[in-house]
Amino acid sequence: MKTIVVSLGGSILVTSLDSHHIREYAAILLELASRYRIFVVVGGGGEARRYIGAARALGINEATSDDIGILVTRLNASLMAGALGEAAYPRVAGSYHEAQAFAESGKIVVMGGVTAGQTTDAVAAVISEYTRAAALFNVTSVDGIYSADPRKDPRAKRHDHLTPTQLLEVIGKTQLAAGSNIVFDIVAAKVIERSGIPLFVLDGRDPAAFRNALIEGTFRGTVVCEGIPLTLPL
Ligand code: UTP
Repeated sequence: MKTIVVSLGGSILVTSLDSHHIREYAAILLELASRYRIFVVVGGGGEARRYIGAARALGINEATSDDIGILVTRLNASLMAGALGEAAYPRVAGSYHEAQAFAESGKIVVMGGVTAGQTTDAVAAVISEYTRAAALFNVTSVDGIYSADPRKDPRAKRHDHLTPTQLLEVIGKTQLAAGSNIVFDIVAAKVIERSGIPLFVLDGRDPAAFRNALIEGTFRGTVVCEGIPLTLPL
């Protein structure tokens, strides 16, 4: 059975506690669990932003604010693990080694953040390396990686396929623009480059799009890999 890592962006999974897609994504992951060994990395979303905003307003330093963000990712991960019920290992993994040990159970492993100074994209990339995943899915709030920020530049074009080196170039350019929203963490992009794990970036605002991409092969987004673009289902 192939291993996949699914990075569920907090912004699409838990916009806020009043508005989340945990039930829908849990149902999709349950369907996928008969075909793949799954690691799910859950982001912090709107609630993490609120906590981090409050921490900054209190003058709390950035690394400690990150630690608070990590706690929120783990709370969201706990909701996801609970929603998955028997199919998931009942504890949220706090480290990569713990995630691998939990996977021995044959169940879906759920985790959040791990260490300050990065985002859950980097966690997803590193656990993909540890587990020799066949692919990493970055389920986010845009439908792929663009040449520039599409909300600011009407000429921005979506890339259907990038090599890992091209991904790093695109991220480097967008990072120069102050305040631009980075779709994929640079630490994560470097890990993808060195390990060669294929990355699929897709829009998760509609959970059905993720399900259909993996099961029916109707992927729309950016695939990052060397050579001929990989196609779905795997
Ligand atoms: P996210 O991965 O959710 O960051 O982690 P994000 O960029 O806000 O992602 P989206 O937009 O929701 O998809 C939330 C925060 O938790 C801390 C960081 O402060 C991050 O911004 N964090 C997360 C870490 O410090 N380390 C980690 O490994 C993960």
